Amino acid sequence: MRRGGGAGGSGLAAVSRRSFLLGGLAVGLGASLPTPGAAAVPWGGGDPFTLGIASGDPWPTGVVLWTRLAPEPLATDGRGGMPPRAVPVDWQVAADPAFRKLVRAGTAAAVPERVHALHVEVDGLDPGAEYFYRFRAGPYLSPVGRTRTAPSPLWTPPKARLAVASCANFADGWYTAYRRIAEEDPDLVLFLGDYIYEYAYPAGARVRDVPGPAATTLDTYRLRYSQYKRDPDLRAAHEAAPWMVVLDDHEVQNDWAADVAEDGTPRAAFLARRAAAFEAYYEHMPLRRGSVPHGVGMQLYRRLDWGRLATFHVLDTRQYRSTLTCGKPSCDRVRKDPRRTITGARQERWLLHGLATSPAAWQVLAQQVIFTYFDRAAGPATDFSGGDWNAYVASRDRVIGGMVRGQVRNPVVLTGDAHMHMASDLKTDFLDPGSRTVGSEFVGTSISSDGDGRDHDEGWRKAIAASPHIKFQSSRRGYLRCDLTPAQWRTDLRVLPYVSRRGAPVETAASFAIEDGRPGMHRV
Ligand SMILES: [Fe+2]
Repeated sequence: MRRGGGAGGSGLAAVSRRSFLLGGLAVGLGASLPTPGAAAVPWGGGDPFTLGIASGDPWPTGVVLWTRLAPEPLATDGRGGMPPRAVPVDWQVAADPAFRKLVRAGTAAAVPERVHALHVEVDGLDPGAEYFYRFRAGPYLSPVGRTRTAPSPLWTPPKARLAVASCANFADGWYTAYRRIAEEDPDLVLFLGDYIYEYAYPAGARVRDVPGPAATTLDTYRLRYSQYKRDPDLRAAHEAAPWMVVLDDHEVQNDWAADVAEDGTPRAAFLARRAAAFEAYYEHMPLRRGSVPHGVGMQLYRRLDWGRLATFHVLDTRQYRSTLTCGKPSCDRVRKDPRRTITGARQERWLLHGLATSPAAWQVLAQQVIFTYFDRAAGPATDFSGGDWNAYVASRDRVIGGMVRGQVRNPVVLTGDAHMHMASDLKTDFLDPGSRTVGSEFVGTSISSDGDGRDHDEGWRKAIAASPHIKFQSSRRGYLRCDLTPAQWRTDLRVLPYVSRRGAPVETAASFAIEDGRPGMHRV
């Protein structure tokens, strides 16, 4: 770890309950709660922090702290073994991991309607600062997490480190990549979708068993998050840094688009399922009040300023998109229909306005699906995805056009979904290598989805060889590590040799850099 003395829960387990109580009393909060062991635990007993803790969506003076009480995380009703009544939970924020310098503390109610999940929006913190946090419920202390506030909007931080992750099919492999992310000591983790997979898994068919039915209802979505969040490597990644999350398709159903299901489910029934999926997603993610599901919708596109170093435009390319199409030549007219949109008109206006007006050095689109022109067929044939930006050509043209017209400074697109690393420049005309380069895209590979993977895929390799704007591809598992300074963006494509066994080391498959004011990446 760069800073050393990380906040891995185990290293701080020695912090006593007594010091938590004293800390609470010192700021006049928490004193009215029962002392440890003095009152009956309001659930049957057992550690309720089995799903870990998290923080996210930081702003200059605060951050969201998350946990959920679940002493029996695999209870099949999805309720985690909690009784149907509210339970008080103390929380603390300190400037040091031993909680000697307590900064904020309070008590919040974990309510059964939210399956005893807590979202505490702590405010009044210093900008650009590191903090430590923990919870207490009954006699039980949570692990300690480390988090950060966003830098002051007037300040240009000299550096920042991002980890970019997506696609963590639990059954496909161990979460070693999450563990390695925690060890990278990132300032912020961007999670770009497929945190869970909704599938029913046949027992014994994969690397890890996930017993139970497909997630289709509120109970079964909740259970699926519980199954995933028990994983110690995932918990470590949450404890290491604040996360900025967005969902893709598998948090709801494979390949859903707006109000259209993959499997022909009628609209009303699908919207009910989607609402259940959104509710469970909110319950299990460190999101702000602005993302509380309302009706059948959920506000997920939002902006995060990292001082004047970077602005993150976090997109939702699922909820407002036109329906999927096919990627074969017979669908070309649909793919190129100017009425089609992957963002919806309102989000597109919001994005283009934000891109053109943000003063930050790096303008980052954090989003789900491949943005760059990607023809998957070698030779004169064409084969596009029917679900990424190649199926919404007019949307991509409008965004790239907006970047050009708005003289947007250093656009960088960060992407999940594809289960492969891909590094690509963005062109005003992708079929003309001599056309203007506008920005770059880094597609991050999956944490575990699709299993061990391989360095090169011959089919992709041939297709990519014909696309000079695409600089690199790897089908290993891993994540992106991005180091930003005002002068340079550097992405290291981090890969693991395997996920079918635990404990894989991590290495860099390739590194690319972009210099401020000079569009296009170069290999480092
Ligand atoms: Fe995925």
